[in-house]
Order: sequence, then C-alpha cells, then structure tokens
Amino acid sequence: MIAQPLHPARRMVVDTDTASDDAVALLLAAAAADTTIEAVTVVAGNVPVDRGVANALATLELAGAGDVPVHPGCDRPLLRELTTAEHVHGADGMGGHAPPPAVRAPEREHAVDALIRLSHERPGGLTLVTLGPLTNVATALSRDPAMAKRYAAVYVMGGAADGVGNVSAVAEFNIWADPEAAAMVFASGLPLVMVGWDVSRRYAVMRPADQDRLAALGTARARFTHRINATLARFCATITKLEGYDLPDPVTMAIAIDPGLILRSEELGVTVDTSFTRMRGMTVVDRLGIEGIAPNVTVVWDVDEDRFKQQLMDACAADGGAAEAPGP
Ligand code: RIB
Ligand code: CA
Repeated sequence: MIAQPLHPARRMVVDTDTASDDAVALLLAAAAADTTIEAVTVVAGNVPVDRGVANALATLELAGAGDVPVHPGCDRPLLRELTTAEHVHGADGMGGHAPPPAVRAPEREHAVDALIRLSHERPGGLTLVTLGPLTNVATALSRDPAMAKRYAAVYVMGGAADGVGNVSAVAEFNIWADPEAAAMVFASGLPLVMVGWDVSRRYAVMRPADQDRLAALGTARARFTHRINATLARFCATITKLEGYDLPDPVTMAIAIDPGLILRSEELGVTVDTSFTRMRGMTVVDRLGIEGIAPNVTVVWDVDEDRFKQQLMDACAADGGAAEAPGP
C-alpha cells in the first residue's frame, strides 16, 4: 500500500514488454520535463523478450532518450507457458511500423539484477512503472524480498478492478500472462498503485476525434504513435469493441508522471487468482473488506481523461529524436 500523497516520479525505472502501447508510454516518460528514466527493464509478454528489447531501444532513440540503459529480462513466466500477443499488437509488436533498429546494444546486466541494484543505489528514491507481466519484479523480490521497501512507489498497469477482462472474461493480460508473479508482487509489500484495464477502457480510448487531434500535430512522434497502434486499433474494433484504440500503458505512465490525474482511488485488499481454471489471473478486489484482506494496493478508479490526453498530445507535439519508420 502506498503512503499518501503520491508524488510525481522524478526518477523512474520502467519494466515493459514493449509493444505498441508500451512504446507510447516510453514517449511520455522521455518527454516528461521533470522525470529521469534511470533504466528500462524488458520482460517477455506482448512479444518475446528479444523483440521487446529491440522495440525499447528503437523507441527510446526515436524519443531522443537513446542514452537510457535497456536491460533484457525474463524470457518466460515463472510457471506458465509464454503466451505472446502479436494478434493484438502485430508480429513486431509495433503494428508493422517498428522504427529503424537502434544503433546501440542493450546492457549486459540482466533486468532482475538491475531492478535490485538500482533499488540499493537509490533506496526510496525511485518510482517503478510496470507495463507488462510481473515476472522480472517477482524474480527480483524472490532474490531480495527487502526490495519491497526500497521503491517509493510502484505503478502497475495490470488487473481489472471491475472484473472485466481483456484476455478472458475476468482477467487482464499482464496479470493473466504470469499470475504467480503477480500474486507474489501483490503480496510483497511493494507500495503498489494499480491502474487496471478498466481505467484504460473508460478514460484512455483514442476515439476518432482524438486521432484527428493527434494527426493534426504533424510530428514524427504523432505519426509514430498512430501507426504503431494500427493492429491494436483493429483488435479494439473487433474484440474489445471500443470506439478506438485504448492506451493502458500510457495512462499508467501519465499517472506516475502526474498523480494529480487521479480523481478517485481506494486502498483495498487485492489478491490474484493462480488457479488453473477460467479464473486464472483475476485480480480479486475486496471492495467491502469482507474477506478481511489487509489493504495492500491503491486501486485507481477514476482519472481526468482530458488531462491525460493533454499530456499525451504535449509529448507527441515535441519533435526530435531519430528518424521515423517509413510507411503511409
Ligand atoms: O492488458 C493490457 C496490457 O497488456 C498492456 O500493458 C499491453 O501492452 C499488454 O502488455
Ligand atoms: Ca505492456
């Protein structure tokens, strides 16, 4: 559970399974004037970890943050088979519009070692933002449980506080992909702020008017943001039936950068279903405290959509960084 109030992230570590919405979240972080990205750690999820590393390196370069270290991490969940999501984000994870490969290579240090080391170097001084399955974070906690006391806040894109899933009727992908890891993280004592898919579905959908506003910016970052989410847009139109493509990772990142976006949140007891049933990966939110689970998570319920989208447009309005991917 997080000690209130939440403060804007000054120094952050981003753990990501770098596909199209993750990439937009990285753009937001790179554009945030008062935020330094100390490192990016990559985990298998949307795409295999090597693809995620390549997408992270290329995106950071495009965003003018080519000096941010990128650490390859866990290439599979703790227990379950790896299930990737190319049907949601495209074969390359970037809607077929991956930017040119980065010039530089990833770090040799594993993501898990980096998460632990960075927490020792800056105890209480780092914000962790997780945008993918929690395999790296759980593995780090298993090696160094006291890490739970060294991150100032951990913003998790994951779960579904309202019980509406996007990979099953009840589970959101990041939690479903590695439920054992999520259960460990939620029980670890890390100061968690949960931004579930319900927040994205209600406050972070890029409707046609938002897409027109983005296109009107006329910048490489705006075109990048739109193009790489082409596959996601089709998935949203046909499967999740949204009015546009939703941006779960960017809205989570935006909250970490500006917690003033949060209009309503609650400290609640949240556990993760690790069964081998259709309930796999469900985030069980004890809203009434009826199971007597001690509150362990700040659950975000409502955010300021206009303020989020303004942060997104401001980040995309900036230009600079490397050349963009070719394409219509
Ligand atoms: O369910 C949405 C989450 O799963 C996002 O983080 C998306 O990038 C995928 O990882
Ligand atoms: Ca993600």
